[in-house]
Amino acid sequence: MRSIVTAGLLAFAGSAVAQDFSHEGNFGAPFPNTTYPGFESSNPYAVAGSLANQTSPPKYPSPWGAGTGEWTAAYTRARAFVSQLTLEEKVNLTTGTGWELDRCVGQTGSIPRLGFRAMCLQDSPVGIRDTDFNSVFPAGVNVAATWDRGVAYARGRGMGQEHKGKGIDMQLGPVAGPLGRTPEGGRNWEGFSPDPVLTGQMFAQSIQGIQSAGVMTSAKHYIAYEQEHFRQTSDAESFGFNISEPDSANLDDVTMHELYLWPFADGVKAGATSVMCSYNQVNNSQACQNSYILNYLLKGELGFQGFVVSDWLGTHSGVSSILAGLDMTMPGDGNAYDSGDSYFGANLTVAVLNGTVPAWRLDDMAVRIMAGFYFVDTNASRPDINFSSWTTDTYGYEHYHVGEGYTEINGHVNVIADHGALIRDIGSRSTVLLKNVNNTLPLNGREPLTAVFGSDAGPNIDGPNSCSDRGCDNGTLGMAWGSGSANFPYLITPDTAIQNTVLNAGGVYESSLDNGAITAMAALSRRANASIFFANADSGEGYIQVDGNLGDRNNLTFWQGADAALSTVAANCKNTILVVHSVGPVLLEGWKNHPNITAILWAGVPGQETGNSIADVLYGRVNPGAKLPFTIGANRTDYGTDILYTPNGDVPQIQFTEGNFIDYRAFDQHNTTPTYEFGFGLSYATFKYSNLRITKLNVSDYVPYSGYSTAAPTYGNSSYSSSAHLFPSNFTRVPLYQYPWLNSTDLTKASNDPHYGADGLVPEGAQNSSARPIPRAGGAPGGNPMLYDILYQVEATITNTGSLAGEEVPQLYINRGGQYDPVRELRGFERLSIQPNTTTTFHVDITRRDVSSWDPVMQDWFRQNATQRVFVGSSSRDLPLQGVLA
Ligand code: NOJ
Repeated sequence: MRSIVTAGLLAFAGSAVAQDFSHEGNFGAPFPNTTYPGFESSNPYAVAGSLANQTSPPKYPSPWGAGTGEWTAAYTRARAFVSQLTLEEKVNLTTGTGWELDRCVGQTGSIPRLGFRAMCLQDSPVGIRDTDFNSVFPAGVNVAATWDRGVAYARGRGMGQEHKGKGIDMQLGPVAGPLGRTPEGGRNWEGFSPDPVLTGQMFAQSIQGIQSAGVMTSAKHYIAYEQEHFRQTSDAESFGFNISEPDSANLDDVTMHELYLWPFADGVKAGATSVMCSYNQVNNSQACQNSYILNYLLKGELGFQGFVVSDWLGTHSGVSSILAGLDMTMPGDGNAYDSGDSYFGANLTVAVLNGTVPAWRLDDMAVRIMAGFYFVDTNASRPDINFSSWTTDTYGYEHYHVGEGYTEINGHVNVIADHGALIRDIGSRSTVLLKNVNNTLPLNGREPLTAVFGSDAGPNIDGPNSCSDRGCDNGTLGMAWGSGSANFPYLITPDTAIQNTVLNAGGVYESSLDNGAITAMAALSRRANASIFFANADSGEGYIQVDGNLGDRNNLTFWQGADAALSTVAANCKNTILVVHSVGPVLLEGWKNHPNITAILWAGVPGQETGNSIADVLYGRVNPGAKLPFTIGANRTDYGTDILYTPNGDVPQIQFTEGNFIDYRAFDQHNTTPTYEFGFGLSYATFKYSNLRITKLNVSDYVPYSGYSTAAPTYGNSSYSSSAHLFPSNFTRVPLYQYPWLNSTDLTKASNDPHYGADGLVPEGAQNSSARPIPRAGGAPGGNPMLYDILYQVEATITNTGSLAGEEVPQLYINRGGQYDPVRELRGFERLSIQPNTTTTFHVDITRRDVSSWDPVMQDWFRQNATQRVFVGSSSRDLPLQGVLA
């Protein structure tokens, strides 16, 4: 069905690394005249989910950074810096030194001549990975559940400050890919929500928060990285699968723009300094060498001014990736950790010398990297790197993997500051109250006997950090597993925190923390006045499996044998309160309808203060105001999407045929009743919605962008002779380390790369340095600035009709009016704090982008010639106020 076409590429001899040029992706005649099942339309290509429109056409050359607008000062400094550099020094900025060969999970080369130390790139999106005296913040999915932009910013800033204190230059996060196409997706929790608007807002705020601390971000993983299975051949092989390339996420241009690219547009607009390309292929072209997604969408249409860094071993070629838009390879090694060779490094030096990579392209890579560095003013204060990812011992090897450079390697610098209070607050503000019969909650602590149940309420008895990268589900779920983990400085369990509250209030407390102890649980729950049961569901990154879950979850049920234990407790206690710690949706229909379950809370993955956070909500110290950032369906099949668990070919093909219809868009489309809908969440207060006002602003019509770039600039002396690039004499090399220097003046031998001289291809136009047209939907970071013009202002009145002060998140949804558009899509929200018997105003600015649809033929946004409706309410299905955007 899909052919991999190489027409349009020119043969070119003498590329330094000539692998994988054939993987240019699905393209051919764009938009062939086909129709497909279920849709009758004169323009079928405008329909999300179209198989006919899954293309990654070649797009060259790679756009050079313009450095205008907010980026002007950073580009001025970056250009001045790069102008001083030699060829090797530029290459050093682009190439990691190798896995476990320096202290950070990724480290560039340095420029000693100018006193510029290596850049330290470090996970992770919940706190600093692989060190000590750091905090563990709530996961991204919890931030989304707060629906509070201020929380996203504050958490980002707190994390950024901690990274700064350890000498880290770039935090590897935040995450908007995976978006959450399937609820089972292993890394959804690292990101925010399957809704692109909610994710986009939280992503942008997180980026600005982290960068406000003088730390660069890597907005990841770009793009359509929606499952762990088959993301890398090495992971797949370790689990016994036989695949030859990473899976290909196949999606059409409408789905790309309206769903998966949307939050990245917000991230780029917010000033993201780097974007990490993902492991998967997109339309059968590796994400890190896919010229359509990197050159055209990201650097062209979205006007991205920072740099593209590969995911770790996500680089599959040198020259072709560079020409397709990759600027930095991490951790630097070639196709295996500590392979001793690199697709960049010396091979890049050779490729510039033999003309395969134009000098302007290397200059652009270096300028983009340094512009990111200056954009956040990284060097205003730049502590030394004072930790090692590979050991928390005080003394160890600088070049850990090869055992060289024994020194004091960890300063154990405490960067926690007062972040515990923030973490506790985010934990409680992200807890969603789903059920609360007869005001069961809040408890007052004076219930005669309070009992807490479940393995998820207690500790991991081996220690909170005992499982490497949290690759187990023992005790309470404060964090899920993978590179998105960090070491806990401490972990307050629900058992501890609830016990403290009850004893302080004068009550009596017991707990039973082993889900296997059914008899004991039955006995205790018969006596208890309030039984609080904790259950969880975990997932993580695909290099670790837990209980047969290869990153992605195998099901949407509870882990740790919680179902049987919960059944027992609920059968014996008429006041059973269920608390769920989970990475995403779990099936709750049965528990929702259970007569003895009086309350249900979803608390997500809350970080180190988890126990305190949940106790704050249970006992009313915090009035819950969070809302579900995803749909909780009654059945797994209701979502209409799933993980591809077994390869359907040598290169697994994942068809995003559902188009835009993921999560609530799918439930609405198919009229399926969820257990709890997207956006749902109760409070101890109640709110009334009234008085919708829609104001149309007088805004000029959309004008497609029509400008050109400059010609590609070069900086400093960019004409290099091939003789001056040998290793300095008497230079002592660290084994396996990546250097930019050459072994020989004979370029065919210079990098010791056996692939030299293999047939190489340079795509047509890839070396063209002339001024190039900017896409009509482009023109500035985030896309055509007119997309962000405010077309309407919508307001509504929200009244707190309860007796307690509370927080409510009014939500605004739009129907774009097209025949195939989702029933409703989130476009606005605000977390409002409202005193009892008072009213407040909910205000949303509706932009042109908010009411627009993507036309893949025109390659631009357009507005449907149809009635566009607006809905305001407290969830995606409780929308009392409705109007028309006239
Ligand atoms: C692979 C993961 O996909 C990415 O998120 C992480 O930043 C790198 N490894 C580095 O650990």
